[in-house]
Amino acid sequence: MTDHSTDISPGTQPRIPHGIRWSAATAAFQIEGARDQGGRGRTIWDDFVDTPGAVIDGATADPGPGSYHRFHEDVDLAKRLGLDRYRFGISWARIVPDGSGTVNRQGLDYYSRLVDALIEAGVTPFPTLYHWDLPSPLEAAGGWLNRDTAYRLEEYAAAISGHLGDRVKHWYTINEPAMTALEGYAIGTLAPARQELFGALPAAHHQLLAHGLAMRVLREAGAEQVGLTNNHTLVRPQSDSPEDMMAAGAYNMIHNRVFADPVLTGQYPELAALGLPEMPTQPGDMELISAGPDFYGVNYYNPTTVAAAPEGSPLPFDLVPTPGAETTGFGEMWPIVPEALTAMLTGLRDDYGDALPPIIIAENGASFPEPDRAAKIDDTNRISYLAGHIQAVANAIAAGVNVEEYTVWSLIDNFEWAAGYTQRFGLTHVDYETGERTPKVSFDWLCGVIERSRT
Ligand code: BGC
Repeated sequence: MTDHSTDISPGTQPRIPHGIRWSAATAAFQIEGARDQGGRGRTIWDDFVDTPGAVIDGATADPGPGSYHRFHEDVDLAKRLGLDRYRFGISWARIVPDGSGTVNRQGLDYYSRLVDALIEAGVTPFPTLYHWDLPSPLEAAGGWLNRDTAYRLEEYAAAISGHLGDRVKHWYTINEPAMTALEGYAIGTLAPARQELFGALPAAHHQLLAHGLAMRVLREAGAEQVGLTNNHTLVRPQSDSPEDMMAAGAYNMIHNRVFADPVLTGQYPELAALGLPEMPTQPGDMELISAGPDFYGVNYYNPTTVAAAPEGSPLPFDLVPTPGAETTGFGEMWPIVPEALTAMLTGLRDDYGDALPPIIIAENGASFPEPDRAAKIDDTNRISYLAGHIQAVANAIAAGVNVEEYTVWSLIDNFEWAAGYTQRFGLTHVDYETGERTPKVSFDWLCGVIERSRT
């Protein structure tokens, strides 16, 4: 396999068509800190970080980058970068602290101030309603395995859009339902750390139902552009043996198709073919889930190489390192293969045809080990990664795929879930002792790319 990621120098201008929008992303739990302030309720991620041994180095997200108090600095960074939009997360537990019932005025006011600051800076606010931080009382009632959670998210969507809908017209409903279902409920590496294996599948359906319900509510509140964002990977078999090919098909179904098919075609793939239980659908669900999103969000980081499962494995596949690829700070399971992004995007277009709305790349980026103290980080490795992937998007567009927007993960270094602070994804370095933000060399480079794409 050819690795194109290393031969792109920092001075390189990726070929990117005029008119693409630029964004950078963060998520509420990963940047805000202030977990006991402003009337915020408790979430499954507070429970996760409080579980000894769950997060590397026992790190907690508080204060983290402290954006609850420093959001003006983040807005300023978004403006300096020249972003069209800023993708940020809204914390459900700041708006509805118990997950249902009373709405918290202080939470509404906080996001209102953030939205006003963005508009003032000329950056379009593009919030995500749900980025993994379920209020704990809802998890106690079954979490995403309980259908009722979808209706609670609908109520929360109504509360927040009722308050911000006059100024916010673009919304992501749910971030990566696959990761919540697979890592949160199936194998337990993310919150709520349950290990239900395929018993976790209802968590996928209930999040997708929540997406459909929220989309309806947001549109009623005047939204112009609503969609969800799915995590996608290009799945490749380790060899062309029938066993590896079958395993790759199974993984592709579980990681990609279970989440894309219902949104884009109104149907789940043939789960029974893998011996999996049917989804707990009820009449009307699939119509809501497939009710024409205005865009299809794609979070992409790396391809996945799949081999047949070893004897006795509870899963029908085995994820293995991708041979010959450079890797990010996450190691061998995060290979850097930009052309896989082009192949993934053209594959979506080929598989879903006219059912595929314009694509928004809602996350793409890489982490590397970087120093803790405030400093100008010379992150040529991140520049190579981003240049390769922006070029990969341009190549997909040249091949006829409609990609409207490209979003970098992340605007600033932040709490990387179970990996704590061992991974830094930011265009901006954050010194977690002082909260000081220092744009990295990749920030200045991207600034130039954005500027040149507009001339
Ligand atoms: C998530 C982000 C996360 C990033 C890097 C995505 O799956 O949406 O919250 O930080 O990947 O791991």
